[in-house]
Amino acid sequence: MKKFLLAPSILSADFSRLGKDVKKVVDAGSDWIHFDVMDNHYVPNLTMGPMILKSLRNYNINVPIDVHLMTKPVDNLIPQFAQAGANFITFHPESTDHIDRTLSLIKDHGCKAGLAFNPSTSLNFLDYIIDKLDLILLMAVNPGFGNQSFLPSTFHKLREVRKLIDLNSLDIFLEVDGGVKLENISEIAFSGANVFVIGSGIFDYSDYHKIIKSIRQELKFSYFKSIH
Ligand code: DX5
Ligand code: ZN
Repeated sequence: MKKFLLAPSILSADFSRLGKDVKKVVDAGSDWIHFDVMDNHYVPNLTMGPMILKSLRNYNINVPIDVHLMTKPVDNLIPQFAQAGANFITFHPESTDHIDRTLSLIKDHGCKAGLAFNPSTSLNFLDYIIDKLDLILLMAVNPGFGNQSFLPSTFHKLREVRKLIDLNSLDIFLEVDGGVKLENISEIAFSGANVFVIGSGIFDYSDYHKIIKSIRQELKFSYFKSIH
């Protein structure tokens, strides 16, 4: 069966007891943890650095950690996040002068590399470098904050990227980030995403186990709809 992965975004976790809250969401069945890095420059918000990621590793958070860099520049942070225990490092094409070099830097540090597209960023950035990617992240909101509404233009963009990946038989995760909830996840999956970043759509519920179970149920329906 096609595998759908859930990556709770800890931007919506309780920062006053971060380790405990992240452990709780992992124990509830998360596949990955999505780690949003904001610098109050590329985006108008300020969040977490590599020390926090390292302390989550020391707290026995062992699932893959998917670092989403919303910073400018990015290159100096890549070795630090790799050393702290990141598995995936994703950046926005607008945040570096040399996309190809930044992708190589991520790989040289033993991580998988992703490229993130804002709602208004053209997919042309995929030209010439798509074979170097392990992950494509489509933002369904403007980056910077959790709990915003999913922009419907993302559906079309997802279908375009899914077509590109499948036609070229590429082994690339297609991740969607922003405004993903129980109510719209089946339609999003149907448009081609296979990794779902979910912040408020999980952390705003008191029972993480229950909401993750309901989300997986929705994804199962979407899978059956897609093969019938
Ligand atoms: C927004 C971040 C997202 C955010 C998603 O800039 O990249 O990862 O946490 O939060 P929700 O799921 O609440 O839209
Ligand atoms: Zn993110």
